[in-house]
Amino acid sequence: MLKGLKTSIRPIEEEDLDAMHQWYNDQEVNLWSSGAWPLNTMLNKDQIAVKFLDGSPDTYRYVILDQNNLLIGTIGFKEINIPCRTATLFIVLGNKAYWGKGYGTDSLITFARYLFTQWNFHRISLDTWDGNIRAIKAYEKAGFKIEGRQREARFVLGNYHDAILMGLLQNEFLALYGILSEAER
Ligand SMILES: CC(C)(COP(=O)(O)OP(=O)(O)OC[C@H]1O[C@@H](n2cnc3c(N)ncnc32)[C@H](O)[C@@H]1OP(=O)(O)O)[C@@H](O)C(=O)NCCC(=O)NCCS
Repeated sequence: MLKGLKTSIRPIEEEDLDAMHQWYNDQEVNLWSSGAWPLNTMLNKDQIAVKFLDGSPDTYRYVILDQNNLLIGTIGFKEINIPCRTATLFIVLGNKAYWGKGYGTDSLITFARYLFTQWNFHRISLDTWDGNIRAIKAYEKAGFKIEGRQREARFVLGNYHDAILMGLLQNEFLALYGILSEAER
């Protein structure tokens, strides 16, 4: 279990699938996380189990818990490039009651520390769309920097939006947050 100040992170278990099934069929969650509604609503529980428990060899998924061990979201990484030591991070707080209260930032810092200190990644990338200000702010608080913009690469609710490309380097993160978490210091 990875411990942050407000959140902890552990691998996905079968008992988590009910909550995840709800989140991935929630229009608002899908809107912010991928802009792909209603495609994701086609996922039924069996497909979610295959996707999340069996997974792909290149995708590692975990769940985020609050201080009372209540499931609030998922986080993970994919697109691992071994020689370059890079990966792409993704995060969704499926429990909407937790948005905008610092849980995302706390879990991003906790997870990034794990990726840099245990997996020894050199760089973590991610992307979002320009309307997702809450996500961009949370990523920036965790140390990510905006590195580029793909013009009109996303289509959300009838409008084109720019994709925002962000990245975080191992040395930048460790200078900001250190090898040990506050809980371990
Ligand atoms: C993106 C996400 C992980 C961020 O986690 P979070 O816990 O909500 O974010 P935090 O509270 O840590 O930080 C968000 C910041 O944005 C601010 N914010 C929240 N809502 C906002 C809004 N509508 N407009 C502008 N700023 C906003 C918050 O005040 C906070 O900044 P502050 O600490 O300076 O006050 C979470 O909101 C989420 O899962 N959203 C749905 C799915 C999604 O968007 N995933 C990311 C896909 S790329």
